Amino acid sequence: MITFHKAKNYFQLQGEGSTYLLGVPPNGDLHHLYWGKPLSASALKKLLAEWKKRSLETEHHVSREFQRREYADFGHNDLRTPAFQLEHADGYRISEFLYDSFQILPGKPDFGPGPSSRAEEADQVQTLKVLLKDKLHKLELDLYYTLYPSRNLLVRRTILRNRGSKPVSILKLSSASLDLPPGPLTRGPQAEGQAMPGLGTKSTEAQTGSWRLVRFPGRWAQERQMKEGPLQEGTLRLESRRGISSHEMNPFAMVSRGQSDEEKGEVYGFALATSGNWLIETELFRDQTLRVNAGLNDFNFKWNLGPGKAFVSPECVMAYSASGFSGISFNLHRFIRERVIGGHWQYRPRPMLLNNWEATYFKFNHEKLMRIARAGKEAGLELFVLDDGWFSKRDDDTSSLGDWFVDKRKLPRGLRGLSDDIHGLGLKFGLWIEPEMVSPKSLLYKKHPGWCLHVPGRRRRMARSQLVLDMSRPEVRDYLFETIGKALEEARVDYVKWDMNRSLSEVGNEVLTPGKQGELYFRYLMGVYDLMDRLNRRFPKVLFEGCSGGGARFDLGILHYHPQIWASDNTDGLDRTFIQYATSFAYPPLVTGAHISSVPNHITHRSMSLKWRALVAMSGNFGVEADITKWRPSERKELADYIRLYKEIRPIVQFGDFYRLENPYQSNRASWMFVSPDQRKALVFVFQVKPPKKGEKAEGFKLKGLKAGLTYELQNGGLKQSGEKWMTKRWLPGIFKNPKNPHACELFHLTARR
Ligand code: GLA
Repeated sequence: MITFHKAKNYFQLQGEGSTYLLGVPPNGDLHHLYWGKPLSASALKKLLAEWKKRSLETEHHVSREFQRREYADFGHNDLRTPAFQLEHADGYRISEFLYDSFQILPGKPDFGPGPSSRAEEADQVQTLKVLLKDKLHKLELDLYYTLYPSRNLLVRRTILRNRGSKPVSILKLSSASLDLPPGPLTRGPQAEGQAMPGLGTKSTEAQTGSWRLVRFPGRWAQERQMKEGPLQEGTLRLESRRGISSHEMNPFAMVSRGQSDEEKGEVYGFALATSGNWLIETELFRDQTLRVNAGLNDFNFKWNLGPGKAFVSPECVMAYSASGFSGISFNLHRFIRERVIGGHWQYRPRPMLLNNWEATYFKFNHEKLMRIARAGKEAGLELFVLDDGWFSKRDDDTSSLGDWFVDKRKLPRGLRGLSDDIHGLGLKFGLWIEPEMVSPKSLLYKKHPGWCLHVPGRRRRMARSQLVLDMSRPEVRDYLFETIGKALEEARVDYVKWDMNRSLSEVGNEVLTPGKQGELYFRYLMGVYDLMDRLNRRFPKVLFEGCSGGGARFDLGILHYHPQIWASDNTDGLDRTFIQYATSFAYPPLVTGAHISSVPNHITHRSMSLKWRALVAMSGNFGVEADITKWRPSERKELADYIRLYKEIRPIVQFGDFYRLENPYQSNRASWMFVSPDQRKALVFVFQVKPPKKGEKAEGFKLKGLKAGLTYELQNGGLKQSGEKWMTKRWLPGIFKNPKNPHACELFHLTARR
């Protein structure tokens, strides 16, 4: 429920387990009052009284830096990092947006092109639109807050409208921005000062470090590693400047007030639904107020907004949990499954695929692929995916991108011939593409050397021997839509792996006027989304999987178009345990491509047991990426058993709820579990990631997500006890008590008996 309390001039966005309050003081500046657990009537009263006092005092005596602001500007007397920055036609960069009016809308408005989460009737969603105006320049800022009350989620966006007669340049426009106050301190003399942050507050040790941050940095083959630690005073930018959301940092982060863990602590999550240059910026101010700005990266960004025009920011999904990280993940997972992903595949079990990349790389022909596919079919797999190397003269990664027609040397009967034979086996057929790229060694480049991103007169720097097509240009997108569309149609594909293997460089073109070059990163991204959208519409039943040199574009923006994403080129079982554990903080296992490959692993050269590799793959969107014709019969049999098992558990893994139990970054084990939607079945996965230290007491873990009143039995007449017991008493399966195998792993099934 969203309410405006007229007498006290504040908005209340009331979720089932969270409250968000915004206030309009007499001066018209917008203030952030609160985001957290629902407040008691007396706590609310106190908070409002304190706000009133502070807003009056600071207005007359001190700087606005002592206010907690919502969507703050820069250049008056709040000199913290702002939510937005504009350059007006007169060259001045000072704006002043003051509160004008509001609307409470049912549901969620249509924001036009680009990724957008949905609202359905059952969500009882409402959207608050707060209109701020800069009267001098006739500019309007619409701040949108869509509240999903039962999910404790808010989705925010910002629109800037130019109602004036002169253009304005947008240098920065966050999707969401707010000032989170520090929590009450419980000990020491500083508690008093804390009651009124900023007014005579002493900076003390107890205050410093009260805010903590969880982020997900990485690199190629090590995407989304979990890092947790204190925030220090100053500004921290988590961002991408690469034109893709990046291997280096995922566009999702959490801040917590004080130390948090899976169960405890107040945690705030920010997930951006954008796949290019993004920014999640925190500024911990001297009074321990934490400003968070999240949205498009302002670096290298300049958007010219002509009279009558509007600029719509991407979405930021904001999640609150009063019960640690698990509360954030639980709500985000369901939200992504139910309201971000859409289309034909949303609720359909995802086919178990066999991809030929690690099996053959570029060296294959029709027969070889068929041999692998046949072995896959025998093992029980459902979809065969032909990866890179099927087009033009692509024998390695130095040529042919852009020439999307089949290589008849490798596939003399064409894609259709292969696809018919694959379909004849009873498998679905999938294809790899990398639409956004062009190889200088290609017919496309010869014909259209100007179609790639470039700055006239400057060198075009390659990465993986390729250049990036300028996706902002409609003629480039039309070419791709036609050629790729034709290939997909002719080959009757059921699945597409959409890859993107390099960062953007020399981001310029000869089409945009000089003053508009700062728009190109965003125009590129919107062009990519446009092509995705057009291909989705043309092939509504085709399952698309996102990929970017592994997992460099793993975000809510891509998930809007592609309901699953390849998590990492690193298929080593042990490394994957960490990657998938950390990925799960925001993203549900359903969307996370997880494949078994051969050992020694092609990247790490490590050999994890088949069981381990299988259990890790079964914890996500299962696939195989290996030449299993080369495997021993016993290994193929074992694989077939895992495939059979995954088919049984797939509905729970893909559509149940996921809970992390033990953190491999902090302990010797990783463990997690899935609970079926009816809570009658559960799967517990346990991995010994490191041998226990000598003499170390094996502690075990408590289960989650069960029904307290039901009795759950471990498979085959094992331990049987109430859900309540499973969830309150630690349990450690025998094989992990004194593991002889340094990498023991197991999957346990639990079934409700009553
Ligand atoms: C990227 C992908 C891989 C594979 C290769 C093919 O690295 O992440 O899975 O498709 O490209 O070139």
